[in-house]
Amino acid sequence: MGGGRSKEGASRADFLAKLRGLSRATVAMNSSLTLAEVLQVVAEQARLVVGCHQSITSFTAGEDLSQAVNAISLSDKYAAWRTYDEKPDGTGIYRLVVEKNRPYRLTQEELESHPAFRGFSWAAARHPPMRGWLAVPIVDRRGENIGIIQLSDKFEGEFDEEDEQILVQLAQIAAVATDNARLYEAEKAGKKRAERSVKAREAFISIASHELRTPITTLGLQLDQIDLAIRKLPGGERFEPKLAVARRQLEKLNGLVTELVDVSRARAGRLDLQLEDVDLGEVAAEVVERMGEQAKLAGCAIALEAPAGIVGRWDRIRLDQVITNLLSNALKYGAGKPVKVAGSGDAAMAHLVVVDHGIGIAPEDQDRVFEPFERIKTMRAGGLGLGLWIVRQIVDRFGGRIRVESELGHGATFCVDIPRAGNPVDEDRVEPT
Ligand SMILES: Nc1ncnc2c1ncn2[C@@H]1O[C@H](COP(=O)(O)OP(=O)(O)OP(=O)(O)O)[C@@H](O)[C@H]1O
Ligand SMILES: [Mg+2]
Repeated sequence: MGGGRSKEGASRADFLAKLRGLSRATVAMNSSLTLAEVLQVVAEQARLVVGCHQSITSFTAGEDLSQAVNAISLSDKYAAWRTYDEKPDGTGIYRLVVEKNRPYRLTQEELESHPAFRGFSWAAARHPPMRGWLAVPIVDRRGENIGIIQLSDKFEGEFDEEDEQILVQLAQIAAVATDNARLYEAEKAGKKRAERSVKAREAFISIASHELRTPITTLGLQLDQIDLAIRKLPGGERFEPKLAVARRQLEKLNGLVTELVDVSRARAGRLDLQLEDVDLGEVAAEVVERMGEQAKLAGCAIALEAPAGIVGRWDRIRLDQVITNLLSNALKYGAGKPVKVAGSGDAAMAHLVVVDHGIGIAPEDQDRVFEPFERIKTMRAGGLGLGLWIVRQIVDRFGGRIRVESELGHGATFCVDIPRAGNPVDEDRVEPT
């Protein structure tokens, strides 16, 4: 009786040890991330859990069922063979496991007399000597074979039914870990590709925008000279309207290129600020004055409600850009209705509000419009979708905030709050130009 209980006790202990081995394997496989690592962990854990001297794990790599991706784990008994790197070539008894997609368990005698094993003799001289064979396929979710785990030379006795079942479990864990590793590797590769394409795009924008500058400047000078020349021609005035169109188009082109240059600068963290005392009302008045013609074309009356005297430590050109972009949007998307530019301030902050009564922005699009190259599809008006992004970059650099309040079809109100003291971070920063 006593003998029986101790035998049961021993097999329970054995069972527990194997269970622990399996759960250790699960953890190890799920934390090792590359395919090669997964394979190595499978080889090692399979040998330890079952308890044997040799383990070779491979992934089916080629159409020919060759097992080109391979990991090996050998006990000290076979230390001399640890450099063995012959890869199963997809013939012989490996092929059987892959094709039939089921486990094989053979004693050494059965192995040697197996017809599929005979072809192995060519590699046998370099292969660690075998003693019995247990091989199970690794099968993916669709039931297709993706590899094999093979064991040989059990510590004690022959491989049995229980070993086979344990190895089948391990192969299932290995299949999941393999899936995870594949996903992880694909995701990593995808991220790298995306990063490269963003870099390429940025480099392109930066180079293209600078290259466009030169011909635009030249073209402007040429237009000036043509202007002078036709003034001297009798009846030359009739060319004036055409010249005005050419100038407007050139200005538009210049504006677009400026946006691109700003984007590439802001992206590189080189949006340079030259802080000085600037009057918000004054700048707003300048912008409104400058955009008079555009407002007329858009059919929008502009109401300016920004008193002089709201002075802060800002960069004049960048502040001008903020107002210009917001006002240009208000005219573009304002449906010909009146537009308002208002400025106010308290001791610490200045507030700028640009209001239109045009097409408005749906709530779900309100965050998106501040992102680069984001435009709302239904738009017929031209543009790059950069204006608001640049505005937000500038406002950020001023240490301020921008938000939009809008309802689709009922106009939009853009509110900008900026500290009058400027952004202290920028005061002592020397900016390269
Ligand atoms: N006042 C507004 N009313 C309605 N929609 C607006 C308004 N301002 C911006 N939008 C929407 O947000 C998008 C992004 O604006 P943003 O100024 O960044 O780009 P854009 O005007 O299209 O081009 P640009 O780069 O020339 O400014 C616009 O395409 C438009 O769909
Ligand atoms: Mg715009």
